[in-house]
Amino acid sequence: MKYGRIVGWGKHAPARVLTNADLANMVDTSDEWIVTRTGIRQRHIAGAGETTATMSAAASRAALAQAGLLPKDLDLIILATTSPDSLLPAASSLVQEMLGAKCGAFQLQAGCTGFVYGLATAQAFISTGLHKNVLVIGTETISRNVDWKDRETCVLFGDGAGAVIVQACDEPTGVLSFVLGSDGSGAPHLHIKMGAGEVITPETIQRGDHFVRMNGREVFKFATRVMGQAATEAVLQAGMSLADIDLLIPHQANLRIIELAARHLNLPMDKVFVNIQDYGNTSAASIPIALVEAIEQGRCHEGDNLCLVGFGAGLTWAAAVIRWGVSERPFAMSSLFTPVVRVRERAQVTLRVVQTAAAMQVMTARRALTKRTAKAVQTVKAKASEALLPLYARVDKRYTRDKRD
Ligand code: ACO
Repeated sequence: MKYGRIVGWGKHAPARVLTNADLANMVDTSDEWIVTRTGIRQRHIAGAGETTATMSAAASRAALAQAGLLPKDLDLIILATTSPDSLLPAASSLVQEMLGAKCGAFQLQAGCTGFVYGLATAQAFISTGLHKNVLVIGTETISRNVDWKDRETCVLFGDGAGAVIVQACDEPTGVLSFVLGSDGSGAPHLHIKMGAGEVITPETIQRGDHFVRMNGREVFKFATRVMGQAATEAVLQAGMSLADIDLLIPHQANLRIIELAARHLNLPMDKVFVNIQDYGNTSAASIPIALVEAIEQGRCHEGDNLCLVGFGAGLTWAAAVIRWGVSERPFAMSSLFTPVVRVRERAQVTLRVVQTAAAMQVMTARRALTKRTAKAVQTVKAKASEALLPLYARVDKRYTRDKRD
């Protein structure tokens, strides 16, 4: 059986930041209430022209560069979101085009747990030997579905995207186990009503059926129940105990929910990654952004066991255990070689990033040139047929006259 290890990662957050103080000027709330009840201090909000697809493409380019891969090396793109650019086509196809990839692409919706569902799906494709390199993206522009007059929801959410490349390998590393769950009876607690079940009318717009609506208390109760359970199940399935987990990367919805989950799992908070203060709840993007930041901050070491766990609309839950291991390390038998291996790895990564960036630039230039050439050919053809038109008319006239005579 093949394993799927994460060899590339990237994130994108919009430049525009909305602080708690900004929100206090918009609705009846305060920095103190938001921080004590949720742990959030600011969130990023997509600007004009920024969409789920554009943010996903930016995160994916970073992941490809990190992995030293080109878009043509991808075998599949899985994009998890609840806020696609449009209902049709899927944002996954827009991203495939933006990257210039030549593979299948589909969109997956499972609320905030979408990224872990995507990771599990990638692992399934890889373990069966069907695919080698799968791009998994968790991404949201949920701010566009937020009612900025509803203080119970608008303080919670933010936009962003995170992406990873899962690559087939033979060592028992990468995604070791996953648990996926759903309880549709909880659907009314967290939803955006607008969809094919309801024709859009001025009344539905007036009612705000295109906004996220949430029963915060019910979702809170559900989250505190399932987070610990799902993580424990995934850990046991991986043949480990909770003590083997080096870092828990939970869905960043509410700091209190995260702390309760950590207590349930008997994990000290220094083994739990938290970045909710900077991003708020970015739904399907929350876990991949947290994973990327954990890697960037040096919190994931070779051989570490990571547990990703989340909950979301559906209501759904999902957890996965990942053994962190980026490269094959022939010298890793002795810790004496660790500094050498680190330097070598850093050099390899830098080289890969430079090579990929150069290759991507060549590819982009080639695509632009092809487009420009096609356009020029089209113009020449149009001009030629325009110039030849009088000649055709004359020939046609003579032909008609000859025929008549
Ligand atoms: N500012 C000030 N006061 C507020 C605000 C606000 N932004 N929002 C609510 N309040 C008030 C309420 O009106 C209520 O007032 P009342 O007591 O006079 O009625 C009071 O604060 C307490 O309200 P609660 O709902 O009890 O507050 P709670 O401590 O439960 O926190 C929260 C609310 C933060 C929403 C919490 O329930 C929560 O985090 N729930 C989970 C939400 C979540 O994770 N959603 C995302 C799911 S993931 C996905 O798929 C998108």
